[in-house]
Amino acid sequence: MQPNESILIVDFGSQVTQLIARRVREAGVYCEIAPFSQALTAFERMKPAGIILSGSPAGVPEEGSPRAPVELFDAGLPILGICYGQQVMSHQLGGRVEPGNQGEWEGEFGRAFIAITEECALFDGLWAVGERHQVWMSHGDKVTAFAPGFKIVAVSDGAPFAVIADEERQFYGTQFHPEVAHTPDGAKLIANFVHRVCGLKGDWSMAAYRETKVAEIREQVGTGKVICGLSGGVDSSVAAILIHEAIGDQLTCVFVDHGLLRLNERQQVESLFRDHYNIPLVVVDAEERFMAGLAGVTDPEAKRKFIGGEFIAVFEEEAKKLGGADFLAQGTLYPDVIESVSFTGGPSVTIKSHHNVGGLPERMNMKLVEPLRELFKDEVRDLGRELGLNELFVGRHPFPGPGLAIRIPGEVTKERCDILRKADAVYLDEIRNAGLYDAIWQAFAVLLPVRTVGVMGDYRTYDSVCALRAVTSVDGMTADIYPFDAAFLSRCATRIINEVKGINRVVYDYTSKPPGTIEWE
Ligand code: XMP
Repeated sequence: MQPNESILIVDFGSQVTQLIARRVREAGVYCEIAPFSQALTAFERMKPAGIILSGSPAGVPEEGSPRAPVELFDAGLPILGICYGQQVMSHQLGGRVEPGNQGEWEGEFGRAFIAITEECALFDGLWAVGERHQVWMSHGDKVTAFAPGFKIVAVSDGAPFAVIADEERQFYGTQFHPEVAHTPDGAKLIANFVHRVCGLKGDWSMAAYRETKVAEIREQVGTGKVICGLSGGVDSSVAAILIHEAIGDQLTCVFVDHGLLRLNERQQVESLFRDHYNIPLVVVDAEERFMAGLAGVTDPEAKRKFIGGEFIAVFEEEAKKLGGADFLAQGTLYPDVIESVSFTGGPSVTIKSHHNVGGLPERMNMKLVEPLRELFKDEVRDLGRELGLNELFVGRHPFPGPGLAIRIPGEVTKERCDILRKADAVYLDEIRNAGLYDAIWQAFAVLLPVRTVGVMGDYRTYDSVCALRAVTSVDGMTADIYPFDAAFLSRCATRIINEVKGINRVVYDYTSKPPGTIEWE
């Protein structure tokens, strides 16, 4: 990426700041999010062509609420302030913002309509004077006097300053949120800002990203050795393939088969990496050692901790056998990197301890190579396609590090893993046959530690219950159940009971997240 071709998004802690980044990138423009407290450093490093100020749970009139670095307003660059961003810009440039909950005013939350009163560069080719358009609002405070140089270009019933503009300085503010789907034209409005106002071409592409990253990896690694832990998932696979393109056989991949994988998963990874990409791959058969360690363990957190620790131990042993490495490659994504801005303080509670290879780099004195750090999940998928990964692999549902162990409540044994693997494969087969795989974020079977009585032929059975789970989600943070029709579910149940010995009853999990979590443990 060349300097001056990017957008800096200053984050004041809004829940939807990441959506601004999504919209900017969908417009073909590279952008980064920086917390307001680090925005100046990011600004100096990136040399962006424009700035977007995000929303916030805070209110401008509140004492101690965040401000943008003043240098940003003096940089001579276009600025778009969204919701709190509009208010803080107005306040910092000499306007007035008044708190909500005063008199009749209670704020605007949800769907609202704005009327366009003047032409504005943001509306070019999109909205004309006199028209009304649907937007999504969420604000209690409001601007009551704008800063010198601004004019009103759109109004709503609750916000006479729905959109304000200072065309000379190219400063714009929207009281509504153009980044959310409930503002139907919002993406186009953001595209207008980055293309027409900031003058960016919008030619940021995965092909360009691949080229830049290959050069960067070569420079970072030099003649060093890199080791990469493959999970069989999309992220670590794409990272490995990209790194291999950059440095060839200086990379070795390690795949730990802990016996908690899905049916044929190990063979798929072996064939993809060895046969298709010709990437040096070590496969470690660690099933026995994981099963031995899991014997008698029923507490979900104890399972997770054991698997995480054992994984690191196995990985470390293999790295030593390979004669060590200078770098550890990881498929870290942008959402893991963005520093969240907290106004409430205090750490968030641990719901589940997620498992990754954290802690290894320091222990083994390795530096990190993380070529996907700037990408969102669907961008990683695009990069995978760019690198020639086939659609079946690129579109894979996420699979947790602790694998089937957290889908077998109670004790995990090889026998129970084998039963679950078969049921899961039948379920996914039915989902693919019905053409539903890509509409679902994640689908899997769970093997319950409960036996119930059934009848097959003329015989009594006394076997395990299998639960089926399928959810839709954007990021795994919240999820809805997938509403299969009854005929589909009954087909799955019949096949699983007939084809998988050890299961005689199938139920469907109807719990969204929250209050449930996606995995059962
Ligand atoms: P939960 O169960 O917390 O899962 O609602 C949210 C998403 O995260 C995945 N998950 C994990 N992924 N290591 C991972 O790499 C883990 O330990 C882990 N636990 C849950 C889960 O599959 C879902 O996509």
